[in-house]
Amino acid sequence: MTTYKRPLELLEGDSLVKICAPMVRYSKLPFRTLVRKYDCDIAFTPMIVSESFNQSIKARHSDFTTNSGDRPLIVQFAASQAKDFADAAEIVVPYADGVDLNCGCPQKCVTIFN
Ligand SMILES: Cc1cc2nc3c(=O)[nH]c(=O)nc-3n(C[C@H](O)[C@H](O)[C@H](O)COP(=O)(O)O)c2cc1C
Repeated sequence: MTTYKRPLELLEGDSLVKICAPMVRYSKLPFRTLVRKYDCDIAFTPMIVSESFNQSIKARHSDFTTNSGDRPLIVQFAASQAKDFADAAEIVVPYADGVDLNCGCPQKCVTIFN
């Protein structure tokens, strides 16, 4: 099993922590693998819409792939309902070191939530 420093351990340390922010369409597994080769300490997934992620296995497989070297990893979700966010977080918990709720994305697909 690969061992690595967890995000809080990194952030509490004395060294500069390099974080790759979430970018829709870009921060998928191949991109994360690349930035980790350039010393990125923590990588985010792109924003994932939690409602469809929970409802469709197809959406889940298309939105989220990972592997054992893809840590530490923060998975970012968009959600308008707390339960959607919590359910999505539960699904990724074995593969992630944290979840992030995107509260400020101006994209239409995010702002149309009720
Ligand atoms: C193409 C693109 C996609 C982005 N997608 C997301 C996203 O999915 N979630 C998010 O919180 N921020 C997103 N952002 C914002 C970035 O995460 C980041 O906060 C922003 O680029 C500012 O970072 P910088 O000061 O290092 O440039 C995106 C930015 C870009 C350029």
